[in-house]
Amino acid sequence: MNEYSKELKQGNHKIAFVPTMGALHDGHLSLVSRANEVAEHTVVSIFVNPTQFGQNEDFGKYTRDLEGDMDKLSPYRVDTIFTPEAKDIYPENFQTYLEVAELQKVLCGKSRPGHFRGVATVVLKLFNIVQPDFAIFGQKDFQQLKVIERLVKDLHLGVEIIPMPIVREKDGLALSSRNAYLSDEERLKALSLSKALSSIKASFQGGCKDTGKLLEEGLAVLKNSDVNDIDYLEIRDSENLELIKTTQSGNLVAVAARIGNTRLIDNIIL
Ligand code: PAF
Repeated sequence: MNEYSKELKQGNHKIAFVPTMGALHDGHLSLVSRANEVAEHTVVSIFVNPTQFGQNEDFGKYTRDLEGDMDKLSPYRVDTIFTPEAKDIYPENFQTYLEVAELQKVLCGKSRPGHFRGVATVVLKLFNIVQPDFAIFGQKDFQQLKVIERLVKDLHLGVEIIPMPIVREKDGLALSSRNAYLSDEERLKALSLSKALSSIKASFQGGCKDTGKLLEEGLAVLKNSDVNDIDYLEIRDSENLELIKTTQSGNLVAVAARIGNTRLIDNIIL
């Protein structure tokens, strides 16, 4: 992979990179489509990164379907599908990790300790190997996007990060590789995440700026659908992810909840 990237760079070619863990859906494909627009060469990586999963998380059962993923990518202009193995990315005696100190502490970072350390480390490694000019990330993992933007700035990586909007089903459910775990009944419940966000947005647009009240309203939507295992529903500054007192345009509303055994996240920007 690295040899190939070096050759492209020597020829002054630009590389757009879409890092993924596979189990591709239309959200990922929107990233690939954007990559095709911004550069003449697109690289997609598929690597289920062990270091970003906690001990009791779904690393083992995460969908691996390389054939299916290759089919989904076939309509796009993809030079290389980079599929490293764990032993390539984490050679024996591997001991160097990257941490984005503050951004990793809140939201998903609280309930998934070590998650963003794993993400930051693998993304830096993938960037070092692929040497992209552009890297495209979805906004569904909003905190991940902020962590990556921060590390790119802090380490002078010179990769342009391009965020892309969340892709949703017609009924509002944010696309996620983990939606495949949901039963029909759970899928119905899962809809309440996007409904809670929409109801907060509607109230905000209707004039309510009281963060507490807005959150109460969103929580009521979740509880009405019997979603009780709520990790967080929070309104934060969308740049530094700090808590805010009075809700303003541009703030992030983010939710994470467990539906059955499946942990789902969603967010909107007001
Ligand atoms: O968003 C993902 O799929 C993963 O977190 C990423 C960025 C590919 C790192 O493993």
